[in-house]
Amino acid sequence: MPFPIHRPRRLRQSETIRRMVRETRLSPDNLIYPLFVVPGSSVRREIPSMPGCYQQSVDEIAKEAKEVYSLGIPAIILFGIPEHKDEIASEAYDPNGVVQTAIKALKDRVPELMVITDVCLCEYTSHGHCGIVKDGRVINDPTLELLSKEALSHVKAGADMVAPSDMMDGRVAAIRNALDSEGFENIPIMSYAAKYASAFYGPFREAAESTPQFGDRRSYQMDSTNRREAIKEVSLDIEEGADIVMVKPALSYLDIISDIKDAFDVPVAAYNVSGEYSMIKAASSLGWLDEDRAILEVLTSIRRAGADMILTYFAKDAARLLKRY
Ligand code: PBG
Repeated sequence: MPFPIHRPRRLRQSETIRRMVRETRLSPDNLIYPLFVVPGSSVRREIPSMPGCYQQSVDEIAKEAKEVYSLGIPAIILFGIPEHKDEIASEAYDPNGVVQTAIKALKDRVPELMVITDVCLCEYTSHGHCGIVKDGRVINDPTLELLSKEALSHVKAGADMVAPSDMMDGRVAAIRNALDSEGFENIPIMSYAAKYASAFYGPFREAAESTPQFGDRRSYQMDSTNRREAIKEVSLDIEEGADIVMVKPALSYLDIISDIKDAFDVPVAAYNVSGEYSMIKAASSLGWLDEDRAILEVLTSIRRAGADMILTYFAKDAARLLKRY
């Protein structure tokens, strides 16, 4: 008969005692802030479906990156919106492309900040798919060559880590191989290992101008019903050389984060994606929930599920809130 011997409320009586028994911690160290870079200068355009997030030119990104680092956030992940799109995503691996230029500026102005780059073709292809299209289908192996070129060009520009998000088979091995053959064996790969085809990428596609012009991404991104398949995807990526594995999105996939954390010994990242951000922004702008509390609760739940790091548009807000609490 546990009661009245056991009274769990004893350990919840005050903020001080709650602090002492807290099982999960959230720190700015756990956060990675996504940034969208566009050509030009003095450009800072708010993304309508993601209030508080901007498409920015290189000069503006450099200013923002300084602020990010000063808030205690160790890393950013860069997405590029190019001047021109074509069938073979030429600007993705152009040494003077928008991302490559931004990397140089960032490493110059905020050298301690870890610059991670998203390696994918969808922002750069005219059809908006993440690979080369032939006869209406995304073809795998020829795409690997372009992804490797893209990753290499980011690293040559100074990127500290690359994060392939395309979900082609074999891309981690191809990128590892390309980096190593040019002497970049110390550059880590964070793979979007279990990336699901999700409705929650909607606002991002507006931000990155990367909506597929025909069809969808279901022939390469995972089916949201599958749990065991995530283990398979992650183990393949680790075998191919992934240093950090990511689950994406985060909130509808907390079970997957937990599975991956239990099954593997590498750091696990989770992407709190655009739709997850916009939902909170929309509800709080209507006065339907307390934004600050929702942010911390959501990010802490992703940590509790097992994520070591979280890519989130709330990184700056969370870092400020954590200082206050
Ligand atoms: C590129 C990519 C996407 C996201 C990150 N990298 C979009 C997609 O796969 O359609 C989504 C990020 C977000 O929604 O915040 N492939």
